[in-house]
Amino acid sequence: MAERRIALLGATGSIGRQALEVIAANPELSVCALASRSQPLDKLATEHGVEHVQVGGDLTELLEASEPDLVLNAVVGFAGVGATLWALEHGVDLALANKESLVAAGSLAIASWKRGGGLLLPVDSEHSAVFQCLEGRAPEAVDSIVLTASGGPFRNHSLADLESVTVEEALAHPTWSMGPKITIDSATLANKGLELIEAHFLFGLEYERIEVVVHPTSVVHALVRFRDGAALAHLGYPDMRVPISFALTFPDRRSTAVPSLDLSARLTLKFEPPDPQRFPLLRLAREAGERGGTRPCAFNAANEVAVAAFLDGKIGFLDIASLVEDALAGVDGAPARDLGELVEADAEARRLAGGRLAAA
Ligand SMILES: NC(=O)c1ccc[n+]([C@@H]2O[C@H](COP(=O)([O-])OP(=O)(O)OC[C@H]3O[C@@H](n4cnc5c(N)ncnc54)[C@H](OP(=O)(O)O)[C@@H]3O)[C@@H](O)[C@H]2O)c1
Repeated sequence: MAERRIALLGATGSIGRQALEVIAANPELSVCALASRSQPLDKLATEHGVEHVQVGGDLTELLEASEPDLVLNAVVGFAGVGATLWALEHGVDLALANKESLVAAGSLAIASWKRGGGLLLPVDSEHSAVFQCLEGRAPEAVDSIVLTASGGPFRNHSLADLESVTVEEALAHPTWSMGPKITIDSATLANKGLELIEAHFLFGLEYERIEVVVHPTSVVHALVRFRDGAALAHLGYPDMRVPISFALTFPDRRSTAVPSLDLSARLTLKFEPPDPQRFPLLRLAREAGERGGTRPCAFNAANEVAVAAFLDGKIGFLDIASLVEDALAGVDGAPARDLGELVEADAEARRLAGGRLAAA
């Protein structure tokens, strides 16, 4: 594998820390830039010999200055949009963990990718799994894809139980260890909604050909069904170092510290449909995706506002979905022609969600 200089955005987060572990295990990989929102980076910069470091500020300036071979966007939320568009437009390979940027920027991002011509490598485990099942297959041979969801900590809770769940309970994910925002998104299934929209843009598939199933043990990450009746599935322990390593060392598939799957250890492969009554955010995401324009951007923005409010103890768990639904009902959803219009659509949805929050 050729040497690869990586700009690691979101270096202090859950994905960022695991990426540093993967990079340290592969001599051809090095870090040329580190970014965080507010946590200091001096120690990491010294440990990894990194010259370009930025806490807060415009991520594209850091990318311009550091000239990476690959950008790993592991920032959380809409804050990652500028960096995603920059990498795609400049043809710099992009390992994308920041799903929110593809959800929000959708068609703009895909247009930039086509113009730029670099690689777009998904880091989300389900999308990495689909990417791997699709490798080398003709698009017309694909029937549909299936994304699995663990169902989160409240899979068996009744609607009445969900009314009173606490932040601590929502942060206790049964199978994955992740940052706080995605952990709450996993408990509400908004995460799977974001992933549905992400898959639509990444793989160019209509929404009706993307299914979501609940699979509590998170061993099967995704399946691709083909037109001849065959389906390929991707299995592995739920450990993000695998998709991170796959993206950073593509196409070499280097070894990781993660053990291979032990089939003698009574794996449970159980699947069930998600419940739209108890987890309405998945339905809202699908509707926003199908209606298109800036509605996915608005879904994401309102969800970010609602999750932050839940984490701050300002609203209950079920209020997250009602707040997003109300905000979506108020947006016009017209497509964004450029980043400026996208930023305005994001801000409008945040204003609507904020107003609803203040009135609550
Ligand atoms: N964690 C997982 O297992 C997992 C799995 C699949 C996909 N993802 C996706 O990966 C992304 C990161 O998730 P995470 O769980 O790693 O989140 P996290 O632990 O909360 O970390 C977020 C990182 O982003 C940085 N950040 C936030 N806003 C920024 C800004 N404006 N400029 C620069 N850096 C900024 C944070 O810096 P500070 O520390 O200074 O705040 C932190 O380093 C999310 O989009 C998530 O959906 C995560």
